[in-house]
Amino acid sequence: MLKKKLLAAVCTGLLGAALLVSPAVAGPKWGTDVKEALKALKLEGDADAGYDLYDDVCINCHQEGGNGDPSGAFPQLAGQHASVIIKQIADIRSGNRDNPTMYPFASVEALTDSVEEGPQALADVSAYIETLTMLPDNVKGPGGALFILKNEFEIAPHKALENLEKSLPRPVFKKLNKLKNKEFNSEASFMKAVQKAIGKANTNKYKKEILFSADWSSDLALGKQLFKDNCIRCHGDHGQGDYKNYYPVIAGQNYYYLMRQFAWIKGGKRRNANPDMIKQIAGFNDLDLRSVLDVSTRFIMKKGDWAKN
Ligand code: HEC
Ligand code: HEC
Repeated sequence: MLKKKLLAAVCTGLLGAALLVSPAVAGPKWGTDVKEALKALKLEGDADAGYDLYDDVCINCHQEGGNGDPSGAFPQLAGQHASVIIKQIADIRSGNRDNPTMYPFASVEALTDSVEEGPQALADVSAYIETLTMLPDNVKGPGGALFILKNEFEIAPHKALENLEKSLPRPVFKKLNKLKNKEFNSEASFMKAVQKAIGKANTNKYKKEILFSADWSSDLALGKQLFKDNCIRCHGDHGQGDYKNYYPVIAGQNYYYLMRQFAWIKGGKRRNANPDMIKQIAGFNDLDLRSVLDVSTRFIMKKGDWAKN
């Protein structure tokens, strides 16, 4: 029954998204003032009912077991604080967090049969998600040097390989393009391949632009220090977050998902972002960003981290 409704919801998804973006729910205030979320947090969730809902709806994207997908398009939900799950769905639903993919599914109709049941459905689905186990081998950052020419428009549009097309003569770009998506684990091996592809003279001439685009390295020592100085205050000393304050678990999450969220938060695209966090990371450069998130993906949750008080 729910499935039929979903199909209809998908078909009207684009329209729904347009309607949902417009209401003036998104304000300067960060904490959730979506009544439904606040109600849901006070309710006792029924994990069995939540399973039915998850199995009908969420599983299509967040996968069986709630571990998301390797590309990071769909985040891992397993291990996330129930309060964060509830707040994020409510934010997505109210148009306070851009997520056109999820709008049709986060709609009240998709979650429940009636508006009154909305908070209960949120409590149920989050109670079910609380029973899921996090991936032991989540996708982590490079943990050191990584040189690769690729187009990651959502994470780092300024580093996209396609940008080089504008600054390089066409024949040079065409040759360089053959290296697309090939990974190198040192600058030397990468530059050697570049030289082989475009010749010595061109390499010398365009080295700076090419390296800027290709450098996806991280520095774990730097990342640890940055985490300590900038993130512990809210996300905890090993990325465990905080149930009561809606601070998300970032430990063990997919690297590409974290990179995208971080970039969106920093750039203002994620409107529900915490203003204090935006301030804290304003001065981060690309290497800082990759390094601190690489460290976050390597943290492991401990017993007690999910405490609700
Ligand atoms: C059509 C695909 C799709 C379906 C179905 C879907 N989601 Fe999502 N969900 C996404 C995407 C994509 C994101 C990440 C959005 C982004 O990048 O900001 C997301 C993000 C989330 C987040 C935020 C996670 C975080 O770490 O902040 C929560 C919570 C969530 N989904 C819960 C659910 C639940 C519960 C259901 C089922 C009722 C569901 N989703 C159904 C695609 C989907
Ligand atoms: C002042 C508190 C605060 C500080 C400091 C802070 N954050 Fe956050 N962060 C938050 C909150 C709150 C959210 C969730 C915002 C929302 O509801 O959309 C968040 C969200 C995130 C997300 C998205 C998580 C997801 O599942 O979608 C990432 C990634 C992140 N923070 C990383 C960091 C890193 C790395 C640092 C340190 C460099 C940091 N944050 C510093 C409060 C903070």
